[in-house]
Amino acid sequence: MNSTGKAILKQAPEQEEKIITISDKSPEEKLYESLEKYELPDYLLYTGSGGANNWLKLDESKTFPVARQLKVMLEENVASIVRFIPACMSLVSIGVGSGEKERILLEELIKKNQTEKQAFEPVSIRYYPVDINSRLVDLALEKVKDLPVERKGIVGSIEDMQLLKKHWHLPVLFCILGNTFCNYEPEFILRLVHENLEQGDLFFFDANLLPTQDSGEETQAARKSILGTYASRENVLFNIYPLLQYGMAPEDFDFEILLAQVDSRIGALCRTRKSLNILKDAEIRMGAKVVGFKEGDIIRMGFTYKYTYDQVLAFLDICGFDVLKALLSEDRTNVMILAKKRI
Ligand SMILES: C[S@@+](CC[C@H](N)C(=O)[O-])C[C@H]1O[C@@H](n2cnc3c(N)ncnc32)[C@H](O)[C@@H]1O
Repeated sequence: MNSTGKAILKQAPEQEEKIITISDKSPEEKLYESLEKYELPDYLLYTGSGGANNWLKLDESKTFPVARQLKVMLEENVASIVRFIPACMSLVSIGVGSGEKERILLEELIKKNQTEKQAFEPVSIRYYPVDINSRLVDLALEKVKDLPVERKGIVGSIEDMQLLKKHWHLPVLFCILGNTFCNYEPEFILRLVHENLEQGDLFFFDANLLPTQDSGEETQAARKSILGTYASRENVLFNIYPLLQYGMAPEDFDFEILLAQVDSRIGALCRTRKSLNILKDAEIRMGAKVVGFKEGDIIRMGFTYKYTYDQVLAFLDICGFDVLKALLSEDRTNVMILAKKRI
């Protein structure tokens, strides 16, 4: 999920409910430029109303329970997380999607706020849903319209966090939920968050994990199940949508997904490797722009890391975070972590 292009501020009056920080290039231009380089990064799967609908549909599908399982885990454990969060904090969530998880957090924060502040005037919580897709920001704002929170949506890219942070009121609980953390290089995302959080801010994220890294039967079964999820028809459709949208036919290419080992400072990590393998000469048309592909061409796509729990902890440590609370599911396949910058 790497979106390039300089971000600019399109509209920023303080009273607006939604701020749009956009790249100087349209999603279509970015798609064209990426495909010319035989690349289709993940963030391009989420753009436009098609991208928003596709994600919402995928998130509901039985065969792709990744983000949904993390929502259930949050519902079951929200009180024990919120215990560590001061009531005055603003909530920022990047890659907010539909904003369902944020509603769960906000309801609990409001409850806590009301209990703690009984003797005083309750402070209203500020909520900043952020997403690359404007429609998803609208949805996240709508989702909490009956809650007593001050809402300000931000359309923008996580890579522009330095620009985005000018819009939020400190201190913040900074969230990356729905396994989105695993779509980035670990040291890139953790350093980005570390550089842009202030002392007093908190970082909350979740991840879908590999239970262990050994070569035993349990790990083999977990790998098989991961591949089954990512190779499901629903996830494949989500991944190939941009090619179909601009004129290619399903028989023109093959979607391939593997689990690969990659090196890192802390040893071997497991990561998905996705590609679109062109089976016959074909082209994509975006208005006047055309990208041609030849049989045998390969379009490289984004990835998802499948860490073990210990690997996540090791990266947090290397990148200067202390864990305040970590919740690991019994089968070690899902985790939620609340952390802060080490002083
Ligand atoms: C895997 S979905 C998770 C959505 C939501 N957090 C959940 O838990 O259901 C990833 C989300 O990140 C958004 N996204 C993708 N690339 C992004 C980027 N570079 N900056 C900000 N948001 C991005 C997508 O539009 C999508 O809403």
